[in-house]
Formats: sequence, C-alpha cells, structure tokens
Amino acid sequence: MKYDYLIVGAGIFGSVFAYEAKKRNKTCLVIDKRNHKGGNIYCENVNGINIHKYGAHIFHTNDKEIWDYVNQFAEFNNYINSPIAFAKGKFYNLPFNMNTFYQLWGTKTPAEAQIKIQEQKKAFGKENPQNLEEQAISLVGKDIYDTLIKEYTEKQWGRKASELPSFIIRRLPVRFTFDNNYFNDKYQGIPIGGYNVIIDNLLKDIEVKTETDFFENREYFESIADKVVFTGQIDEFFGYQFGTLEYRSLKFEHETLDIENYQGNAVVNYNDAEYPFTRIIEHKHFEFGKQEHTVITREFPDKWEIGKEAYYPINDDENQQKFDQYKALAQNTKNVIFGGRLAEFRYYDMHQIIGSALVKIKKEFNEN
Ligand code: FDA
Repeated sequence: MKYDYLIVGAGIFGSVFAYEAKKRNKTCLVIDKRNHKGGNIYCENVNGINIHKYGAHIFHTNDKEIWDYVNQFAEFNNYINSPIAFAKGKFYNLPFNMNTFYQLWGTKTPAEAQIKIQEQKKAFGKENPQNLEEQAISLVGKDIYDTLIKEYTEKQWGRKASELPSFIIRRLPVRFTFDNNYFNDKYQGIPIGGYNVIIDNLLKDIEVKTETDFFENREYFESIADKVVFTGQIDEFFGYQFGTLEYRSLKFEHETLDIENYQGNAVVNYNDAEYPFTRIIEHKHFEFGKQEHTVITREFPDKWEIGKEAYYPINDDENQQKFDQYKALAQNTKNVIFGGRLAEFRYYDMHQIIGSALVKIKKEFNEN
C-alpha cells in the first residue's frame, strides 16, 4: 500500500483529518472532484476580494478548544455577522431583536415589545402546530411571520410554509435587547486572507489531487491506501441502493461592480417572493475591504437532483429512514471512515465539522 489514508474530499473535514493523520506520521492522499481545495468554504480571490464561492461563511463557536484549534491555521478578524432583511419595502435588523420590533411596530421598550408578541401569540391560540406556518406563528406571532418569515422560507424550500414540516423551525430566538449580532457564540470572525489560508495550512506538505473523482476510479483508489476517509455523499458510496437522499440546492450569481460599496453590509436578505433570490452577499464587508470595486453574489434556492450541488439535507422522516439504512451499512464497512456533512447527511457548521473530525481522529488512533 502506498498510503495509510486515501481521503475523498478536500473540504474542512478531509483537511483536518489529513493534518491530524500526518501529525501522527501517517501518509495521506487527498482527492477532490472539484478543481480546488476547501470544499464549500473555498474562496476565490477577485482583484483582492475573497469571494465565498459557495455562500456566506462566518466562523463562530462557543468552544474555546475549537477556536484555539482553528486559530493555529489563520488569524481571524473581528467581523460580527449582523444581517439585514429587506421586506415589504423596508429594512429590518436581524436576528429578531429590539431594533426589529421598533422597525415593525414602533415599540420602544422591552416591555412594550413583549406585550405585542404575547398578544399575537395569544390571538393565534393553537396548541399543537401542525406545520411550519403554525409553528412560526405560535413562536413569534403573525406580524413577524408575515413580514419576515413566510415568503423567505417558501423561497428557500420551494414549498408553501403550510406544507412544510414544523420541525424545520424548532426555535425562533427573540431578543429583548438592541443587539444585531446574529450569533450567540463567544467567538466569531473571518480568517484574514479568506478560508483558503486555513485549508492551505492544514494541507501543507500533503499530497492533494483535484479534479479527481473517487467513483471514476474506485477500485484503483481503494487499492492504494489501507483506509479510505469518505466525505462525499453516503448514498452514492453505496450505489443508491436504498434510494436517493434528498437535498435543497442553491445557485450563485457573482457580479463585479465598478463601485466602492453596493449595499453597505455583507449580508442583505431579500424576503419577498417577488425577488427570486434569498440574499445578496457583498464579500468585501467580511474583511472590511477598501477596494475601489466590489463583488456581490445573489443566492438563488434551487431544486436538487443528482449532478447538482447538494447543499441543505432534507432531514424529514423518509430521508432519515433511508439514511439510517446507509448508516448501518457504513458501520459494517471495514476500512472506511465516513465523515462530514455529506457522508453524515447533516447540516453542520464549520466548528461542528472540525469537532467531529477531531473526534473521529481520536477514535481512529485509540486516544480516547
Ligand atoms: P464539503 O462539502 O466542504 O467537502 C466535501 C468535499 O468532498 C467537496 O469538496 C466535494 O467536491 C468532495 N467530494 C464529494 N464527492 C467526491 C468524490 N466522489 N470524489 C472526490 N471528491 C468528492 N458554516 C458555518 O460555520 N458558518 C457559516 O456561515 C456557514 N454558511 C454556510 C452557507 C451555506 C450556503 C452552506 C450550504 C453551508 C454553510 N456552512 C456554514 C456550513 C459549511 O459549509 C460546512 O460546515 C462545511 O463546508 C462542511 O465541510 P465538509 O468537509 O463536511 O464538506
């Protein structure tokens, strides 16, 4: 065998695994079918601006160990995510907080805002929400739902909110402070120089082959390493034998503009149905860029089918049951480690992916 590990996927999971294996004197070959490393956190540099090619990525965590870990590979800036929503002709701050309530109702104190929300929740009066619409109204009332949730969610999932399962919205945090910081986590930021800095440092001195699809040469790849670390789609690995796991896809349209500042914020959501996109990202603001030009990206939700990028797993009962069958097969598959968002059919944030890769490494090297 030439390598100890063949790692399929040069995303954050595969890269952390490769780094940690190398640290333990193991040899790795990392392959990726895309023409770049980094998976979904990859950034393309356009005249000095780092473009988040696969959607806005903000690193955030409450876990000091993960924060210290990732800081070994890049220095982070002090970016705080404070998205804005454009809905029914007005701007609203997110997440739902005292600014949003003031913009919506003119309420000036937490007590006034609390009364307003309680009144609306009471007016709805249903005990057991049966779908996303009912769930959202029971959590935050009809005004917030109608203005800021309904049309955005329907675009995102391509279905009526009244036909979507309620589990998609388990909680809808409301804040009675004037605080537009989207995340509650203690640590947050954007790596200076973009996410590629992290990936390049993780994969330093490790052999990587891009534009290389595992399935195009499966037997060969399985023959050159003792073990495979697989971070692609688990259903594809097992030949879709229990059926296809479903996803929601996205399309991104990038545009360079000859102006310094397009929208004054990194993330602006477009809630209304009349816009086919859900948000516009202006990348320079992630890194407080001062360039004379700017690059924006419109993000369009898209129906997923095999061959399109799989972004958001649809974790309803039917898909979950299929996934459980694949997971049982995976547990009985020797010499293959499954990890990452596609192999685990789960929406994972970056810090969770790092945490999960480190757990798998410890298990692999009996370090628990
Ligand atoms: P990832 O998909 O990155 O890597 C898997 C790699 O495997 C891919 O590069 C793929 O090409 C490769 N591959 C698959 N099959 C293959 C095959 N057969 N042969 C070879 N290669 C193959 N998180 C966060 O913390 N903050 C945020 O703000 C956001 N924002 C965000 C926005 C959007 C729109 C999405 C969809 C996701 C986020 N995330 C996020 C989540 C974040 O993107 C995610 O946690 C990581 O990118 C997942 O890393 P993985 O390594 O698991 O998968």
